[in-house]
Amino acid sequence: MIIKRDKDKKEILGVLCSGRGTNLESIIKAVKDGGINAEIAVVVADKKDAFALKRAENAGIKAVCVDYKSFSQREDFENAIMEELKKCGVTLIILAGFMRILGKNFVREYSGRMMNIHPALLPSFVGAHAHRDALSYGVKVSGCTVHFVDEGMDTGPIIVQSAVPVKDDDTEETLAARILEEEHKIYPKAIKLYCDGRLKIDGRKVEILDE
Ligand code: GAR
Repeated sequence: MIIKRDKDKKEILGVLCSGRGTNLESIIKAVKDGGINAEIAVVVADKKDAFALKRAENAGIKAVCVDYKSFSQREDFENAIMEELKKCGVTLIILAGFMRILGKNFVREYSGRMMNIHPALLPSFVGAHAHRDALSYGVKVSGCTVHFVDEGMDTGPIIVQSAVPVKDDDTEETLAARILEEEHKIYPKAIKLYCDGRLKIDGRKVEILDE
């Protein structure tokens, strides 16, 4: 399936974050520079103190906190997020350091229209401790992956990956910093490919179509 047919139509992005939001910042910059045919309509964070909310405000983007702690049921939390996204007419969801697993209903609703970035070369080192897991496994190369979100954890079809070396004296922090630099390059790139109608999903495979 080619997931976007109308190349000329601007995508409306909704970015979901949990923390500092450096990936969000790189996407804001790429959209502002005009390279991506999209606008960021809303940034949603699951915590009040997520610095990503400040970054959104500073860029003049609507920033909304849907506080995870104020919901007793995960489904209600997710419905509240969905409501915010729908209010803003979001057509593509970008998970940028969003540290919650989304349930089946949410994922199905946005199938083929939701991306995530993960700081490892998937399918290795899924989950919340990718850098630590890569270091303790002893890999010589790690990196980052942008993928479509499916119902599994970090298992959806892969759009773009970038590799970095792992050094003998790396700590979680030094490895994370090296990978983050690549994240800031490949996430805007993946979003642009989507917005330009150049992605085709065929089962697990994502083909990048010629311009
Ligand atoms: C990034 O390294 C991202 O890959 C990771 O969280 C960080 C968020 O940083 N995401 C995950 O681990 C998801 N499983 P940021 O808030 O500065 O963009």
